[in-house]
Amino acid sequence: MATPIWFLVLSILFISASATANVQNKVTDNPADQLVALINSNRTASKSSSLYSNQGLACIALQYIKAYQGDCSVVGGVDAKKPNESQFTETFAPTCGVEASTLTPITGRLLGCQSKYAKPSEAFSEILMKNDKSLEIVHNKNHTEVGAAVSGSDGGGPYFWCVLFSNGKSNHSFVPEEGVAKISRPGCFSGANDQCSGAPALSQTPHLLPIAVGALIALVCAFRI
Ligand SMILES: *[C@@H]1O[C@H](CO)[C@@H](O)[C@H](O)[C@H]1NC(C)=O
Ligand SMILES: *[C@@H]1O[C@H](CO)[C@@H](O)[C@H](O)[C@H]1NC(C)=O
Ligand SMILES: *[C@@H]1O[C@H](CO)[C@@H](O)[C@H](O)[C@H]1NC(C)=O
Ligand SMILES: *[C@@H]1O[C@H](CO)[C@@H](O)[C@H](O)[C@H]1NC(C)=O
Repeated sequence: MATPIWFLVLSILFISASATANVQNKVTDNPADQLVALINSNRTASKSSSLYSNQGLACIALQYIKAYQGDCSVVGGVDAKKPNESQFTETFAPTCGVEASTLTPITGRLLGCQSKYAKPSEAFSEILMKNDKSLEIVHNKNHTEVGAAVSGSDGGGPYFWCVLFSNGKSNHSFVPEEGVAKISRPGCFSGANDQCSGAPALSQTPHLLPIAVGALIALVCAFRI
């Protein structure tokens, strides 16, 4: 007797469901990992390869953000600035514990910033995908690996998103000396199996409480008058 067609359909559904679950299991509660997953699904949907999620490269993406010192106005536009090439070896790699000899050329970068926090899906489509050129960067066939990072600044926004692409060989590029890239806060980066989400991880918010208390006191005073 021929295999019933519904059995085949069910098997295919089951296989694709478990494949999806496997991929998603690797994505921890971390907006940078979620962004990498979005980039990879956008690539595979248009027949580009899925990229290796490299934690060393992602940690460097976080340092790249920090080089802007919270200044959103120099990201893009006429005043656009870029960290110097030398900073990769002098600052970014040592901060991440990445061996300088394993640094590999960056084949693409996406950087965006806005005052309020966005979900990874919004960050991807609304902040990072500003024009056709951005989509070309995502789909470029020369990339083999990717690292993403997101960070707020002191006391909240602006929030920076950075994605770096490289053509290195997964295990031999951006290699952390200790086996894992050094985690630092504020900010989250991909590939490190690091649970990282919410305001405290993204930005140090030491000023929020005094502001809230101050507002309350002001309110109380206003009512007493
Ligand atoms: C980058 O280099 C330029 C000139 O070489 C220098 O003026 C600038 O201060 C450097 N920027 C940083 C962030 O180090
Ligand atoms: C990939 O991202 C672009 C930009 O957000 C979007 O227009 C396109 O529909 C996406 N492709 C897929 C297959 O999701
Ligand atoms: C890929 O890399 C080669 C060699 O460096 C370069 O000539 C080519 O323009 C790159 N392709 C894209 C799409 O960037
Ligand atoms: C990286 O290296 C480890 C151990 O050396 C190995 O288990 C793993 O499969 C390698 N991964 C890739 C993507 O090459």
